[in-house]
Amino acid sequence: MAHVHMLSFISRPLFKLAFLLTLTIFLSLPLGNWSAEEKLGSHCLENPPTLNESSGGGSVKKIGGLKAYVSGHAHSKLAILLVSDVFGYEAPHLRHIADKFAQSGFYAVVPDFFYGDPYVQNSSTTIPEWLKIHGTDKGFEDAKKVVAALRKKGVHAVGAAGFCWGGNVGVKLAKTDFIKAAVLLHPSWVTVEFIEVVKVPLAILAAELDNGTPPQLLKQFGEVLSQHKVDNFIKIFPKVKHGWTVRYNDSDPTAVKAAEESHQDMLHWLTKYVKET
Ligand SMILES: *[C@@H]1O[C@H](CO)[C@@H](O)[C@H](O)[C@H]1NC(C)=O
Ligand SMILES: *[C@@H]1O[C@H](CO)[C@@H](O)[C@H](O)[C@H]1NC(C)=O
Ligand SMILES: *[C@@H]1O[C@H](CO)[C@@H](O)[C@H](O)[C@H]1NC(C)=O
Repeated sequence: MAHVHMLSFISRPLFKLAFLLTLTIFLSLPLGNWSAEEKLGSHCLENPPTLNESSGGGSVKKIGGLKAYVSGHAHSKLAILLVSDVFGYEAPHLRHIADKFAQSGFYAVVPDFFYGDPYVQNSSTTIPEWLKIHGTDKGFEDAKKVVAALRKKGVHAVGAAGFCWGGNVGVKLAKTDFIKAAVLLHPSWVTVEFIEVVKVPLAILAAELDNGTPPQLLKQFGEVLSQHKVDNFIKIFPKVKHGWTVRYNDSDPTAVKAAEESHQDMLHWLTKYVKET
């Protein structure tokens, strides 16, 4: 009898609405409460690249104390720093992007932020353990060393693009004078607090399907940047998943097309703000 009574109780419109609202809020809570590691683990590790230390048209050099894949003219006054995802600087697609920047006249640099220890799927090290050793704060400190070394050798403007793990390093660089502009591609752990202190032109290329940095959060980022009069470009790519710009299937034309569109947008943004300076 109590059961029947409750059903008639929630069928009254006002209570029904309150019930639905509570249910909606309750259901949306677990997403917002995921820890950083769980968020990363849930989608950042799909389609891992086959690492190849000799991939790409460039070479490996030491810059600012780090090994780095470099592509393009060493005497170029304009450089692009590419900050990898957890799979590191030997990923062929990432090096291919560096080669694209090189073809546009930049000196492209992809540092080995993990000192020869990229995340390896199914290894005995879990992602939270690995992240304790390879945090983005350390990556940020290393990135500044690389930029300082580039400046010392005559580069006068640097732009940065960061992917996933690297997107978090990228947003930290975007609040400094080390770079002229940044692009974040499906970044991880970026919050409004990070965006509020950004001072260089910032583009964010994001996936519609990304539970770590979902579309409604990106909209908020755009509003905050505009309020602070920071040039920004927020683009949400439909039907693609987090990671699509670097971890795409070469044999799938739709996946390749979506990735290439993001590369063009990235190149366009950094060309506009790095070459103009
Ligand atoms: C690694 O890259 C080099 C240079 O592009 C290529 O010749 C070689 O076939 C690649 N190796 C694998 C296993 O794909
Ligand atoms: C890694 O483990 C997952 C399941 O835990 C499995 O589906 C996948 O095939 C494994 N990958 C490799 C390269 O062993
Ligand atoms: C890559 O795309 C091709 C063509 O659509 C498909 O046959 C293949 O299964 C895909 N590979 C993976 C790993 O999804």
